[in-house]
Amino acid sequence: MGSQVNSSQTTYQSIPYHIGIIMDGNGRWAQQRGLPRLAGHQAGVDNIKRILEESVRVGIKVLTIYAFSTENWQRPPDEVRGLMRLLGLTIQRQLNQLNRNGVRILHSGRMEGINEHLQKQIRRAVEVTRDNDRITLNVAFNYGGRAEILDATRRIIQDGIDPDDLTEELFSQYLYLDLPDPDMIIRTGGEWRLSNFLIWQAAYAEYYTTPTYWPDFDEAELHKALVEYSRRERRFGRVPNP
Ligand code: FPP
Repeated sequence: MGSQVNSSQTTYQSIPYHIGIIMDGNGRWAQQRGLPRLAGHQAGVDNIKRILEESVRVGIKVLTIYAFSTENWQRPPDEVRGLMRLLGLTIQRQLNQLNRNGVRILHSGRMEGINEHLQKQIRRAVEVTRDNDRITLNVAFNYGGRAEILDATRRIIQDGIDPDDLTEELFSQYLYLDLPDPDMIIRTGGEWRLSNFLIWQAAYAEYYTTPTYWPDFDEAELHKALVEYSRRERRFGRVPNP
């Protein structure tokens, strides 16, 4: 376990370097209020800012957020269009501020399928923020863990890698991004599923789920997850420490 880390409110044994978040429950949050589902997604976007800021305060260095999965294309066309528009609008409205605040934006996922204009906006957000180092916000958009593994495998074959040379380390280098594996996966909205999120990288991640819907997952909820994380002993398949 790492040294004592002092956050604004609590002292933790260790703080995760990288957290993956499955932001579930936006639709139910909206339904509870008699609002359209897209209003829930908008509230979900607003919440990203809150959690990002608290993450900077406690010293988390990477957040990967599951914003649109390869399976989400099967949602009603209006919702799919709405989610695409929301990402474009969010980049348009927030990029300067994110950049000023030292946020590095990354994208994980397939570009194919995303319209040209949005692709350009995503590339620009990544380019403009590339040298920032306060925190990395990795947006998993048109992302699927199986698709990522398939895409990596295709490129390994194309590169003519000898099967005897293929190691886990080498395979990892063919994934979309070169980031340390997530230490913890948080899922809001009450389900106990990974839903094709970071399935290679999360092999040893601590899993945390809460019934709280994503738009209601505030700073106090993040701290609950951090308390739980710092209580767990991460063994990576080894025996407990004496
Ligand atoms: C699940 O809620 C959430 C999503 C499908 C995506 C989350 C998307 C955002 C927060 C907005 C888009 C992201 C960016 C960065 C602009 P759900 O709709 O499955 O909720 P439900 O289970 O209650 O129906």
